[in-house]
Amino acid sequence: MGGRNPGPGLPVAPDRPLGLLAGRRILLTVTGGVAAYKAAELARLMAKAGALVRVAMTEAARRFVAPLTFSSLTGQPVATGLWDRPGGLPAIPHVSWAEWAELLVTAPATADFLAKLAHGLADDLPSSLALAYGGPRLDAPAMNAGMFLNPATAANLATLRARGHRVLGSPEGPLACGTEGPGRMAEPGEIALEAARLISGGRLSGRRVVVTGGATREAWDDIRFLSNRSSGLMGRALAEAAWLMGAETLYLAGPAAAAPGPGLDGLSVARAETTADLLELAREALPGAWALLMNAAPADFAPETRARGKISKTGGDPPVLRLRRTPDILSSLSPLRGGTILVGFAAEEADLEARAADKLRRKGLDYVAADQAGGPESAFGSEAIALTLLSARGGRLPIGPGTKFRAAWELLSALASGWE
Ligand code: CTP
Repeated sequence: MGGRNPGPGLPVAPDRPLGLLAGRRILLTVTGGVAAYKAAELARLMAKAGALVRVAMTEAARRFVAPLTFSSLTGQPVATGLWDRPGGLPAIPHVSWAEWAELLVTAPATADFLAKLAHGLADDLPSSLALAYGGPRLDAPAMNAGMFLNPATAANLATLRARGHRVLGSPEGPLACGTEGPGRMAEPGEIALEAARLISGGRLSGRRVVVTGGATREAWDDIRFLSNRSSGLMGRALAEAAWLMGAETLYLAGPAAAAPGPGLDGLSVARAETTADLLELAREALPGAWALLMNAAPADFAPETRARGKISKTGGDPPVLRLRRTPDILSSLSPLRGGTILVGFAAEEADLEARAADKLRRKGLDYVAADQAGGPESAFGSEAIALTLLSARGGRLPIGPGTKFRAAWELLSALASGWE
């Protein structure tokens, strides 16, 4: 696989996760299941992100969706028969397209087609292409639950996984045949993200990254709490970027923080209500992690007491809250860090870099990323951010302004390259 069809290289800091697909050559094989209609959305998402998407269809797939749908959505030729010359190309597609592609996505992958892949059959164009192709592959199975659970299918999937195919989970849910169970195709957005992950170089593969994001809450009765304005958008961007770089990623998020969609293998989300909960989750996750990116805005103060039920506003004076400090998570974890890289974030209203550098020292961090809080430049709740990354060794790296995903990608790239 390695070294074939070198692509245009790692795109530098895309604005959005699917921006990683820009300019990449993707072969999408569509086989004959009802989920073929969702493959049209997948083709659209990838083409919109700037990928060159060529589609190969089985005869059965053409009974569900017309080739014209795919050629219209991708602006690229669609191949259907072994002896086609799509787009007037001189060579037969199973040779030239297999050489051309950087990634082969099969969605939907029927039980029959998976069996053909597992056994190396090549009696039509998509199966011949699959046999001739030698690069990374992503399969999105879709079938009736009985077929999915059949040991024959399970064995075929195990064979394909052992050969390095990335096989997406088939979530449980209502199936087109009227039954419920596993066998549904993964959602197009999820497949496109997996494609982006497979194609983007895996700079952090084999590493575990823990990201925290969003605000925690400190309750003063069962209904009410103290919190802050952190949206979790930057935390989510960091988690997505780490995952897309191939890291096994854990995102520890406040209760209302923005989070990546479920279903991405290798990206888990756990919610923490209070600052003490977040400290516990982060402490458990720390051993062996390559980096902890502490982007959460933990509530710094908690009410000393918490009333049961809901304090009524009638009949009595308004309550007076006495506050106590919550634990400082980074300071608590820094003595336990082992080899984990600790990154703090500092949103400051004034003296940005001096205050951030002070936090870096006080909390025993390797890096701190400073940004402007308050005023028109504030990143709170915004899609955009400008950061200055400071290192314990005196390095200074301005990042952005740009989207939070771009900033997250640049920040992680700096860490991955050992920038100091
Ligand atoms: N942080 C933490 N535990 C807390 C509060 C903050 O680990 N209880 C982390 C944040 O996640 C961030 C860094 O410390 O990475 C800096 O947070 P910030 O709120 O800017 O700093 P504070 O320590 O709260 O200091 P100050 O209130 O003086 O700005």
